[in-house]
Amino acid sequence: MRILFVSSEVVPFAKTGGLADVTGALAVALTKLGHDVRVVMPNYGHAGADGHRHQKMEIDEIEIPLGTWSAGVGFYRNELDGGIPVYLVDHPPSYHRGALYTDDSDEHARFIILQRAALSLTERLGWIPEVIHCHDWQTALIPLYLGAGDYPQLEGVPTVLTIHNLGYQGVFGSHIRDDLGLGVNSYLLHQDDLARDNINFLKHGAMYADMITTVSPTYAEEITTPQYGCGLDDLLRLRRDELVGILNGIDTDNWNPRTDPHLSYRYSAKSLWRKEKFKHDFLDSIGVRYEEGVTVVGVVSRLVWQKGIDVAVDAMGGLLEDHPELRFVALGSGDKAVEDGLRWLAWRFADQVSFTSGYDIALSHRIEAGSDLFLMPSRYEPCGLNQMYSLAYGTAPLVRRTGGLADTVTTFDQGDGNGVVFEDTDSNAVRWAVETALAIRGDKTAWKTLQINAMGADNSWANRASDYEAVYQRLAD
Ligand code: ADP
Ligand code: GLC
Repeated sequence: MRILFVSSEVVPFAKTGGLADVTGALAVALTKLGHDVRVVMPNYGHAGADGHRHQKMEIDEIEIPLGTWSAGVGFYRNELDGGIPVYLVDHPPSYHRGALYTDDSDEHARFIILQRAALSLTERLGWIPEVIHCHDWQTALIPLYLGAGDYPQLEGVPTVLTIHNLGYQGVFGSHIRDDLGLGVNSYLLHQDDLARDNINFLKHGAMYADMITTVSPTYAEEITTPQYGCGLDDLLRLRRDELVGILNGIDTDNWNPRTDPHLSYRYSAKSLWRKEKFKHDFLDSIGVRYEEGVTVVGVVSRLVWQKGIDVAVDAMGGLLEDHPELRFVALGSGDKAVEDGLRWLAWRFADQVSFTSGYDIALSHRIEAGSDLFLMPSRYEPCGLNQMYSLAYGTAPLVRRTGGLADTVTTFDQGDGNGVVFEDTDSNAVRWAVETALAIRGDKTAWKTLQINAMGADNSWANRASDYEAVYQRLAD
């Protein structure tokens, strides 16, 4: 099938989180199944800091109508593995900013331009997809634009919207209405929202996409409830028959402890003693004291409310005090209060704790390999990738029972299971999980069994891509 992906971030060209990992890897996995996949994303220039050389495409600028004004965009081209074309929408005033996402007053226009440019480009190239796959709010207006008949060659092309995170919906005031460029078709907008001075990009995707997917079966259930629905649960309940949860996969070439170039010792399930060697090297390199029998707890995360790292900070103080054999290594950036909490732990327990504020891919690999336990106390987690990286690296995930965490991790008991699952986002729950894991570690045979179970999990994309294929097929039938 001809499949068009439109996404605001795609690995290796631009990334803030799992969305980029997933769009990049899924495009490759679908291509391996024989599909003709093409990808459209913004050209962030230096803000993407991608260091990749994109090629300017020899086509005339396309004028994107934005109501009272228009933007002239050009295109660059690059490729993903397997020769997958990636078209980068070039509009420096919109995309060359300090970050991929902003609070600037034209944030809505940045992603209107992306969506309209994607649709116009495919018409211009005469490459008419059989399905258009949108990802998150930045591309969720595409089904509406198709419905409005603005792109005659694409009439009737079915759409899939994948919700990677319902916590981000792209909600703007109704003053942006003209910029949508809908003209007489503005009646397609959610009228009650308009009356409340709201235009919600993701909601329109959930209204008009032919199929909606999200990134784990448990999250697909959760988002139909008021607790996790972020105000869209009513609508998602109405669309239950077109809502499917498909677990994300991981890129097993990039995340493989046998071949990982970021590790000084590489290992497999058969050479776990080398993981211990690496742990020693790693702790030395970050100034944390290694001793035989230490247990390292790792965190790599965006430091936002969703991830519950505030709760981890609360719990770790007492745990580090009560268990001198514990070590804690964290990497991330975000909320200042959480960063300050992590800095305080690193100061108070200087031998036991290291915190790196920032974004560092090499360090994220080292933390996965050099930890024994990996903590994810998420308040919600559509899928989560780090728990799957942890499993691949023989590092036990300690996760809250939500979303994709609940679908990939089970508490170790009597030889079965690969981590520890807890129920609540509070410091008692985290303490319980860490102490439960310490107890399992006390029994060497049990611990090794857990690690082997973890490393045996198959979370590769190969399986998951065929679930997307089934969704596309359902639309084609
Ligand atoms: P989310 O997309 O909600 O942030 P995921 O678990 O799906 O959560 O994906 C996060 C991705 O971003 C993972 O690949 C993780 O390793 C990476 N990541 C998050 N924070 C950092 C950081 N500070 N440095 C390097 N990589 C990070
Ligand atoms: C989102 C979610 C995360 C998911 C990722 C990729 O950012 O927060 O749980 O793994 O998207 O789908």
